Amino acid sequence: MKIIVKDNYSEMSKLAASVIADLVRKKPDCVLGLATGATPIGTYHELARLHREEGLDFSKVRTFNLDEYLGISMDLTLPYEMDQSYARFMHEELFKKINIKKKNAHVPYGLATDPDKYCKEYEKMIADAGGLDLQLLGIGGDGHIGFNEPGSSFDSRTRVEHLNQKSIDDNYEAFYKKAGVSKEEMPKKAITMGVATIMEAKSLLMIVSGIGKADIIQKALEGPVTTQITASAIQTFKRDVTVILDKPAASKLKKL
Ligand code: GLP
Repeated sequence: MKIIVKDNYSEMSKLAASVIADLVRKKPDCVLGLATGATPIGTYHELARLHREEGLDFSKVRTFNLDEYLGISMDLTLPYEMDQSYARFMHEELFKKINIKKKNAHVPYGLATDPDKYCKEYEKMIADAGGLDLQLLGIGGDGHIGFNEPGSSFDSRTRVEHLNQKSIDDNYEAFYKKAGVSKEEMPKKAITMGVATIMEAKSLLMIVSGIGKADIIQKALEGPVTTQITASAIQTFKRDVTVILDKPAASKLKKL
């Protein structure tokens, strides 16, 4: 595992974007697994800049997002701030700023009428694309990757997951509160790639920022491998895994 500490959020984001950009240049039709949350925004903005200023070409790139809230999807009729779907997030932060083809950018569909069946189809879509070349990951406050909450099996695949209170609280503070949506109205379930789905990627790139993540990332990287912190699964990853942290997030690591 490669662990890299950068001075600040901006440096972390630039490096993460350069890892992704190198892959896109090397393999123009690569398959990227993408993540949401506050952490990857800087990475996406840097990728958009590389597209705009240096012509980084996404025309053949395929993407699959980790997760989506159940019961919502992009709704262009809603006032901008009210739509907290991850589909909308991806559109605003990345897809509309690069030349990716709409049909190649996949976010789990939160309004699927038969979500269990849809989850199996999502797995098949990833497999049919040839699998994920790189999966970008953040870490949730409770140690989740995607929305694989504590207790999720390492054999889990794309499925509907109940969000635990910590995730609801964190995402409320980070996004929903600003949008004027009450905590009661927030979705309590999500579609998420499973831990096993994520671990099948050819490479992993985790980004972690801020003092608020220092404890949980120390446990995930240096503590026991446990389903109670699903991010700890990356310790068992057999191929290329890079973790980029900013200084505050890395401040509790002991083995640097
Ligand atoms: C959400 C997403 C995760 C993400 C996590 C951390 O729960 N489902 O994939 O890693 O948030 O987000 P943030 O970067 O905002 O702390």
